[in-house]
Amino acid sequence: MSVNLLSTVKLGRYTLPNRIVMAPLTRNRAAAGNVPTTLNALHYEQRSSAGLLITEASQVSPQGLGYPNTPGIYSSEQVEGWRLVTNAVHAKGGKIFLQLWHVGRISHPDLQPHGELPVAPSAIAPEGEVATYTGMKPYVTPRALELEEIPQIIEQYRLGAKNALEAGFDGVEIHSANGYLLDQFLQDNTNHRTDIYGGSLENRARLLLEVTAAVVDVWGGDRVGLRLSPSGTFNSMYDSNRAAIFGYVAKELNHFNLAYLHLVAPRVEGFGSAEDQPDLNADFFRQIYNGTIITAGGYNFETGNEAIASGSADLVAFGRLYIANPDLVERFAANAPLNKPDRNTFYGGDAKGYTDYPTM
Ligand SMILES: Cc1cc2nc3c(=O)[nH]c(=O)nc-3n(C[C@H](O)[C@H](O)[C@H](O)COP(=O)(O)O)c2cc1C
Repeated sequence: MSVNLLSTVKLGRYTLPNRIVMAPLTRNRAAAGNVPTTLNALHYEQRSSAGLLITEASQVSPQGLGYPNTPGIYSSEQVEGWRLVTNAVHAKGGKIFLQLWHVGRISHPDLQPHGELPVAPSAIAPEGEVATYTGMKPYVTPRALELEEIPQIIEQYRLGAKNALEAGFDGVEIHSANGYLLDQFLQDNTNHRTDIYGGSLENRARLLLEVTAAVVDVWGGDRVGLRLSPSGTFNSMYDSNRAAIFGYVAKELNHFNLAYLHLVAPRVEGFGSAEDQPDLNADFFRQIYNGTIITAGGYNFETGNEAIASGSADLVAFGRLYIANPDLVERFAANAPLNKPDRNTFYGGDAKGYTDYPTM
């Protein structure tokens, strides 16, 4: 029988019952103190038949925050909150990785400790507006991190990784996609540094690789994944030669024997795609990267199966379909119709549009 989404797969040290991944989905429903709740636990529990669940992005420090009510992974209260989630998923036999996040410049003084400026590789503002506690405001020009501050950034990720281990997760995913801090260091429209963290491919990839080394130090490579969005323009991202920087990163990641590399496919609606250069799809990374590949972005059952059958990816992550279909695996298996996600309840709110989507 040919391999498809419903086939088992080895991912790092785990064997998963299927190749259907719940993509990381920010839903802005953490409690005060950015602490996960029983409502969040129910949301993940409902989706625990996925081969792998990846949590919503979770900031590794107060400085890493960029949106209201996203969960953190730096305080003991947050660790306790996440334990509700991991216990609920494990009781249903699921596996769950936490996504480690620092937003960098995608923030605002209103969201930062002591009203400070957000930090970034260079003092370059993104276009557009940011959601604060008091409504939408224009992005500000961030403060460029001093060279002496970089070790503290790496320590933030190390602490987040340690806390995730304590909270009972099965692994962690380093969020280096969608224009957040690590992506800002990689790409040359956001990184104009002249020190060892800017300029050459090696220098721009340095922070990501140092963070990866720190996280692998805590978890072992076979329980660490990493997400890239090599063709995306979300959060005002651009690189003048993306094949060069993302190819270099993929090649260097081979040294860590990670559980997986997670790629956001080009041309995802709402996430954009730079059109002046060839798309970097999973096939591009297959030539360079030796390990397991998860692809995400705009897939359905049919195209997901094609991605696996053709050999371009090993697993497929589903975002919006998972918002609306807690029993996505069972629906796919039965070829059943799918619920439609309601955009109005994506970000923030309560159980409505979060834990009340019906199963079959
Ligand atoms: C509401 C929403 C929240 C998201 N939050 C995250 C996130 O926290 N981390 C991340 O890496 N991607 C995030 N994404 C991107 C998704 O993981 C996924 O790549 C994207 O939705 C495309 O996949 P889809 O077409 O299956 O929805 C988010 C997308 C949506 C729609």
